[in-house]
Amino acid sequence: MTATLKNPFDISGKNAIVTGGAMGIGFGIVKRFVEAGANVVIADIDLNAAEAAAKKLAEGPGKAVAMRVDVSQEDAGDKMVEKCVKEFGSVDILVNNAGIFPSVPMLEMEPALFDKVIAINLKGLAFASKAAAAQMIKQGKEGKIINIASIDSLHPSMVGLAAYDASKGGVLMFTKNFALEVAPHGILVNAIAPGGITTEGTSGPIGSLTKEQMEQVLDQFKQLIPLGRMGEPDDIAKVTLFLASPAADYMTGEMIVVDGGRLLK
Ligand SMILES: NC(=O)c1ccc[n+]([C@@H]2O[C@H](COP(=O)([O-])OP(=O)(O)OC[C@H]3O[C@@H](n4cnc5c(N)ncnc54)[C@H](O)[C@@H]3O)[C@@H](O)[C@H]2O)c1
Repeated sequence: MTATLKNPFDISGKNAIVTGGAMGIGFGIVKRFVEAGANVVIADIDLNAAEAAAKKLAEGPGKAVAMRVDVSQEDAGDKMVEKCVKEFGSVDILVNNAGIFPSVPMLEMEPALFDKVIAINLKGLAFASKAAAAQMIKQGKEGKIINIASIDSLHPSMVGLAAYDASKGGVLMFTKNFALEVAPHGILVNAIAPGGITTEGTSGPIGSLTKEQMEQVLDQFKQLIPLGRMGEPDDIAKVTLFLASPAADYMTGEMIVVDGGRLLK
């Protein structure tokens, strides 16, 4: 599709999967995609929330449908692809957004929690990418895969996120290597590294931190953001739409930092 100056972010008629699309950053992305005319499968472990999200977007112009999926399950990628093809006919865009960020110091970390973080944030993302890319190759058309990484892919933001940072560092290098592998098929793989974004996930207790402790952490974090505010889901959604659109047709293997300048400090 050609990007026109009138609407360089046109993705109308494209079919997309957004993991973890029921709330937070994921829902922000789903909203922008539907607004830009794409049809979206909201693939989330919380089916009720995913259905409620789809309902909110019933007026379109794109369509949104909900499905329950745990991205850490081995068949998750295939199931999401199957659903998107069944509902809309193809998979043109995959956004790997589902992720967890339990804050637990490594000295107190249990192997099972470490495994869970890697299984959702990295392995789930990798195998969803594999399933989507296989479908895109079958379709014989270009495709876009966008991975939601983190500024923690580049620099640790706080103690307690060793497992998370390992997973998100992995997302950055997976993005680059997979971009190289699937470039000959016209599949573009890029990532976005959000800074601090106010979402359902960052608004409650996290790992061993209570809600109050979390508020304190976020207050301190905010002091270090040059733009002076936490980000909103839409700050990430707009850049995701850019990467999904024809405006980004010559970009692959890249990660865009969207953090209000946080990494400058
Ligand atoms: N919020 C931030 O400050 C921030 C910063 C950097 C990166 N990120 C990344 O952005 C992504 C979204 O974060 P958020 O703050 O919107 O989170 P959130 O907790 O608000 O929402 C996450 C969504 O993912 C779903 N989900 C969780 N586990 C799942 C699983 N196993 N399978 C399918 N769905 C699952 C949840 O039900 C929820 O709808 C994550 O990958 C996170 O690491 C967030």
